Amino acid sequence: MSIYLDNAATSHPKPPAVYAAVLAAMQQIGASPGRGGYGAALQASRLLFETREALADFFNCADSSRIVFTHNATEALNTAVRGLLQPGDHVVTTSMEHNSLLRPLFMLQKAGVELSIVPADTEGLVDPQAIRREIRPTTRLVALAHVSNVTGGIQPVAEIAAVARESGALVLLDAAQSAGCLPIDMQALGVDLLAAPGHKGLLGPQGTGLLAVAPHVRLHPLLAGGTGSSSDQDHQPEGFPEGFEAGTHNLPGIAGLRAGIDFLATTGLPAVAEREHGYGSYLREQLAALPGCRLYGPADPQKRVGLLSLTVAGWDASALAFELDREYGIAVRAGLHCAPRAHRTIGSYPGGTLRISPGWFTTTEELEHCCTALATIIQKGNP
Ligand SMILES: Cc1ncc(COP(=O)(O)O)c(C=O)c1O
Repeated sequence: MSIYLDNAATSHPKPPAVYAAVLAAMQQIGASPGRGGYGAALQASRLLFETREALADFFNCADSSRIVFTHNATEALNTAVRGLLQPGDHVVTTSMEHNSLLRPLFMLQKAGVELSIVPADTEGLVDPQAIRREIRPTTRLVALAHVSNVTGGIQPVAEIAAVARESGALVLLDAAQSAGCLPIDMQALGVDLLAAPGHKGLLGPQGTGLLAVAPHVRLHPLLAGGTGSSSDQDHQPEGFPEGFEAGTHNLPGIAGLRAGIDFLATTGLPAVAEREHGYGSYLREQLAALPGCRLYGPADPQKRVGLLSLTVAGWDASALAFELDREYGIAVRAGLHCAPRAHRTIGSYPGGTLRISPGWFTTTEELEHCCTALATIIQKGNP
């Protein structure tokens, strides 16, 4: 028996329609979008257009042409911060961020962008007033993750966005762990740029992601190259979306992403959110009683999603993950989860935590099996 509980890294399995859509795009379309006037190329362009429309609807982004396809959330975050920030600009972020946001920001800091990192509390939550205290006249951006990939904690994004708006700063939301898990309305939340992977909660294939950009945001492209438009010009066009999508698209991936979003629309996001939330609460209840077990993240169930991080006294998190895999075929992730500062914040640095992340296709039996396996491993003792 093999049990996959690493959906925070990438969701698995995908809905059957996702696999079918990938195959159909390869076998029945095959051509590149925006690159030719023949039938298959037009079909590819239509698929891209319809997927942009579906994503704009999904996140309530005002203009579907400002949905930029990327290959993951990391590329979307890089496109946002490197396309926006200039030397002398100030950016505020938090101690809970993933390296895919922090590393580009540190890179920009070397080039003269000023950076403030607001510490979260020990549950991993950020106080909007702490963000307010860091705002300066030069603050151009407030950038943060909606949901922590370490604790599953949900940040008070609407309140933080209101603070940013008061000072005229833009808000970049890293929706890597929330897209497809929580409803996200960019306009209602006050989010100006939203970066998301297509391959996690949106249930699309690996190699997909997006950046949604509000109409008032001016951005410079990260990559330059062939766009299928303005080909007579030496310089990269800066119009949306093609100026931000140099090179051949991942059409099969985008077709799969479209099928993933359709699946979520049919299933209903509230049902997805409720199931995953229920799984998280179940895991907490079952594992809290294990000897030496410490659970991380917000105590308030309304402030967290389904993923759970834990440590067990006397155990290295990676040894637990190894035993779960070797003895029980259970896939979970241990360590720092590319977010070392988040672990420092919650007190699990340098060892990190064991992270269990269920998804839509996880069953209660699988979670029961995981809890029993962990209890047995701990009871047997450290090898
Ligand atoms: C909070 C957060 N941001 C960004 C990323 C990067 O996503 P991707 O692997 O799609 O680049 C992850 C991936 O785990 C994440 O959890």
